[in-house]
Amino acid sequence: MQSAMARAEVDDDVLGHDPTARKLEQEMAKITGKEAGLFVPSGTMGNLISVMAHCEVRGSEVILGDNCHIHIYENGGVATVGGIHPRTVRNNEDGTMDIDDVEAAIRDPKGGMFYPRTRLICLENTHANCGGRCLTVEYTDRVGELARRHGLKLHIDGARIFNASIALGVPVDRLVHAADSVSVCLSKGLGAPVGSVIVGSHRFIEKARTLRKTLGGGMRQIGVLCAAALIALQENVSKLEYDHKKAKILAQGLNQIKGIRVNAAAVETNIIFLEMEDSSRLGAEKLRKNLEENGILVIPVNSSRIRIVIHHQISAGDVYHTLSCIQQAVNGAQEANVD
Ligand SMILES: Cc1ncc(COP(=O)(O)O)c(C=O)c1O
Repeated sequence: MQSAMARAEVDDDVLGHDPTARKLEQEMAKITGKEAGLFVPSGTMGNLISVMAHCEVRGSEVILGDNCHIHIYENGGVATVGGIHPRTVRNNEDGTMDIDDVEAAIRDPKGGMFYPRTRLICLENTHANCGGRCLTVEYTDRVGELARRHGLKLHIDGARIFNASIALGVPVDRLVHAADSVSVCLSKGLGAPVGSVIVGSHRFIEKARTLRKTLGGGMRQIGVLCAAALIALQENVSKLEYDHKKAKILAQGLNQIKGIRVNAAAVETNIIFLEMEDSSRLGAEKLRKNLEENGILVIPVNSSRIRIVIHHQISAGDVYHTLSCIQQAVNGAQEANVD
């Protein structure tokens, strides 16, 4: 990637002249089956721009899962920056929202001055906070059909859509066929240093380009970043399947450790949530610190829950090393408790 970045052909992307950016955007549009693409600096900006482009009018409403990234981790940007009202629907453990609940949340357009106008539904695939669960093509199509029936748009936060595609064995373009836009991250499992690409119709991308400039995301010679992303698309998509295998090995190994529990059946991609059954002995923060000392980085979600993510630079050997470090930490905590 570094040598591709050094060799990248670049020009001014604010003026639309960067050839490497054009190549990446066209490639992502082709993979996702959409008309056009736009490079943006982050997944957060990709989602914000998409929501604003679809909702258009301040005071419009977006329906989204109560556990989704846009709602939980993006600083409420759709409301604070976009002026869009979020209406949440409960996320099930598998990342879906019940279709009946989504339909019930759509405002009656005849509500006059009392209601905001619903304009958009957002899905997340894979669903990060639900443990990297995949939304199936059947489910996505049903939500798309519901959106069309009510004259709404459908956006997919597809930060990890390639993981979903590989795990489900469904090509990306088929998986997102029902969506009007998708935001795809390049810097997660795909391993590029920076950026996301949003895709949709030509009209959507033109609105998105203006919003990107407004939000300060218009950048000049971005070909250096897009060159790395093109390598990620060429070389790293095929590595995701092995990431999923390593995640399953880790999940199964963790379930052999007394006091640690993982819902192994729910590990469909590269994210694992580890539950500590008796966190009074070894809390999540203590375990995180212990693992960090062994060169392993994880994120505690609360006092008894830790998130672990696998990527292609983590080897099977690293997975076994992690298991052995966790086993030792648990043993150490048990011994301290006996003393
Ligand atoms: C599902 C999902 N969407 C969006 C984002 C935002 O991406 P970024 O960190 O590039 O803003 C993330 C980041 O972790 C994510 O997991």
